[in-house]
Amino acid sequence: MAQTHFGFQNVDESDKARRVRGVFDSVAKRYDVMNDLMSLGLHRAWKAYTVALADVRRGDKVLDIAGGTGDLARAFAAKVGPEGLVLHTDINQAMLVVGRDRLLDDGVLLPTLVCDAERLPLPDGRMDLVTVAFGLRNMTHKDVALREMCRVLKPGGRLLVLEFSRVAEPLRRPYDWYSMNVLPLLGKLVANDADSYRYLAESIRMHPAQAELKQMMKDAGFGHVDVHNLSAGVVAVHAGIKC
Ligand SMILES: C[S@@+](CC[C@H](N)C(=O)[O-])C[C@H]1O[C@@H](n2cnc3c(N)ncnc32)[C@H](O)[C@@H]1O
Repeated sequence: MAQTHFGFQNVDESDKARRVRGVFDSVAKRYDVMNDLMSLGLHRAWKAYTVALADVRRGDKVLDIAGGTGDLARAFAAKVGPEGLVLHTDINQAMLVVGRDRLLDDGVLLPTLVCDAERLPLPDGRMDLVTVAFGLRNMTHKDVALREMCRVLKPGGRLLVLEFSRVAEPLRRPYDWYSMNVLPLLGKLVANDADSYRYLAESIRMHPAQAELKQMMKDAGFGHVDVHNLSAGVVAVHAGIKC
């Protein structure tokens, strides 16, 4: 059986998705408050940057993959207007339910779809924009998922991947210390779940750095890929164009 990593552990490929589901089932209800605490609110600025970079127009068709509690989907819905389309999708029903309820509370009604990024139930070449924020590192076969994202885009369409990345050298040690010690502690204190937040910290370390992910996107079919480092590379937006 082929192996992959789940945080720092090696697990059977067939078991990773189940374990990831366990993490997000467990964190769903506290996900938003934990996001604000862990990132000191910075995730809002990183997402705002991603939305600005996307520069969607009225009428555009947007697919938000691993959309979770719906931050990006909500922002895009306001921009594409009623003539456009935003699909709010995730493999995890618990995350989507929290997100859908939040969107409904804000008066935003979007098509919501439980689906695996590695097998998108969508036709070829229809979307103007695909986004995935903090989701790619949880996927078992990132290469397969990236190819799927490319497949559903129109020629000229764009993929934006917002994800934790490799922080600049002087900050690496303090950032490692913070993520490996403070995140599980916050998880324990606020969500009574240190293990899930230890996985999140470990999965950040295991995720490909900027240049490697850029190459993976090119291999998946994106003709041009730009990398935007944010917060000294704590996160990066990879913007790929399907040429
Ligand atoms: C850290 S959350 C990010 C949620 C949201 N995009 C945000 O930025 O707040 C990661 C999400 O990735 C989803 N995910 C993990 N593997 C996936 C897959 N194979 N296909 C689709 N979504 C997946 C999880 O269920 C989870 O909701």
